[in-house]
Amino acid sequence: MRPPKVRYALISSSSKTISPRPVKMMIKVKRFNRRVITVVVACGLLATFALPVQGTQENLLPHLRRQGNATQLVVDGKPFLILGGELGNSTSSSLEYMRPVWPKVVSLNLNTLLVPVYWELIEPAEGKFDFSLVDGLIQEARRHQQRLLPLWFASWKNSMSCYAPAWVKTDQRRFPRAQDAAGRGMEILSAFSKENVDADAHAFAAFMRHLREVDGNDHTVIMVQVENEIGMIPDSRERSAVAEKLFKQPVPTELMSYLVERKETLIPEFRAAWAAAGFKTRGTWEEVFGVGPKTDEIFMAWYFARFTNRVAQLGAAEYKLPMFVNAALIRPGYQPGQYPSAGPLPHLMDVWRAGAPLIDFLSPDIYFPNFAEWCRKYQQSGNPLFIPEAAPNPSSAVNAFYAVGQHDAIGFSPFAIESVEEPVSKLLAASYDVLKQLAPLILEHQGKSSMVGLLPEGAEQRVPQKVRLGSYTLNVTYERPTSSTAQSAQTPDAISGGLVISVGPDEFIFAGTGLVITFETETPSDVTVGILSAQEGKYVNGQWVSGRWLNGDQTHQGRHLRLVPGKFDIQRVKLYHYR
Ligand code: DGJ
Repeated sequence: MRPPKVRYALISSSSKTISPRPVKMMIKVKRFNRRVITVVVACGLLATFALPVQGTQENLLPHLRRQGNATQLVVDGKPFLILGGELGNSTSSSLEYMRPVWPKVVSLNLNTLLVPVYWELIEPAEGKFDFSLVDGLIQEARRHQQRLLPLWFASWKNSMSCYAPAWVKTDQRRFPRAQDAAGRGMEILSAFSKENVDADAHAFAAFMRHLREVDGNDHTVIMVQVENEIGMIPDSRERSAVAEKLFKQPVPTELMSYLVERKETLIPEFRAAWAAAGFKTRGTWEEVFGVGPKTDEIFMAWYFARFTNRVAQLGAAEYKLPMFVNAALIRPGYQPGQYPSAGPLPHLMDVWRAGAPLIDFLSPDIYFPNFAEWCRKYQQSGNPLFIPEAAPNPSSAVNAFYAVGQHDAIGFSPFAIESVEEPVSKLLAASYDVLKQLAPLILEHQGKSSMVGLLPEGAEQRVPQKVRLGSYTLNVTYERPTSSTAQSAQTPDAISGGLVISVGPDEFIFAGTGLVITFETETPSDVTVGILSAQEGKYVNGQWVSGRWLNGDQTHQGRHLRLVPGKFDIQRVKLYHYR
């Protein structure tokens, strides 16, 4: 077993590319005179104030904080909205390959790039670390005014262990594999091995420590994703002898007590499964949760969570950044094992939370068209919404608005961002441009129920959507409802959606595309709501700069508000009442 702290031998020193910025004070004292006394007194004073200063610096690290009922990411003391994009899996393995990617990322108006970092390249030989790639990415991110969100591709990447270093992969005796029912090893590291978790956790600790050294003052790196799309496939759980033995043992007390304490507020689907098995508070996994793949999944989720928590623990001990895990979602009708079983999925949120308390939140990778539904599921029971991967199609340009406006999302990020082309690139750049302008206002309104997201509920939505905000009901019609056909058509005007912020009793900021909105009072009354003014405009450094006054044909002679399809706009609207 390894000691908890190891000395890391660096293959290539990072200090050439990015140097840490320690504050060093050298005092030369030659004689015992008044200067010495002054220095001693000064040091005493410094020591007295050292603790609070250190505390303040801790608070300046990127961290999460609550505002109303939302959770915000705070970077450099201010809330931060991630307008992100995730790189394809192999892109960040070559700084040369990355060269044309940086300007593209800037042109798309991203502020954060999600980049895989690879265990196999970071620790090519046991205990020998190479951070040259990581350093190069940080340096280029700074040059291009980007923040970075590394994805720790280590023990599991989409269920598999393809990113484990060769010295792990080739030593199956020391680093055991998950086995199928026939006893065959898969290219999946077992979640039940201490050697496995220690190897991953020590590498992650070295990585986080390095981040602290090279970025502890700059905060280019703002959060970290631990592993990638954890989940068992093609079986619902591991079948090795160790796994079998644990499966026949009682459900661990930590999990049982967690569930008992929160019995009334558990995720309904999970609670129902436990209820169906009789709400037992002790017994084996099958006694407590029933027999079947759903129970295999709960069992596996607990051990995946424990493993991940240990990795996060050693990493956070070196450098405490917000950490999260992401999930491959469930195709309708699929069973655990047909989809990656036991990942951080909505129905397993309680198990993951109990098993991995050091993971700050669970995230969905949303590639399915029912975007709003998955957002809702991932915002259950206080889980902050952050979408690290989304299908890079035209809809992503409006989905970003919806996630942020409706669910106070920490951020949004389409996948394979370096490969997006027109029309997606143009739409996303326009969408992010507007969201960037609105970011201060959005962040101010998060968690206060003064903002809503707008997205069509279905392809054939004929009846206007009724949205309540402030003292009004908004009747929202989408000029181009999203549908899978529209998405695959890849046409810019195939999308519609946006967000609304209530900035005063009768005043709203609308942003988005393809929207027509009429207004009523919130409760039925004899007054009619009219549009007093509608201005289009921009936010420049957080200040509203108005453009055209929209009236006449642009508001259907005062009857409605319209954000035309095919482009993203902001409108500031004042309402009034008449009889
Ligand atoms: C989800 C994974 O998390 C990504 O790394 C990538 O493999 C995509 N799927 C590919 O669609």
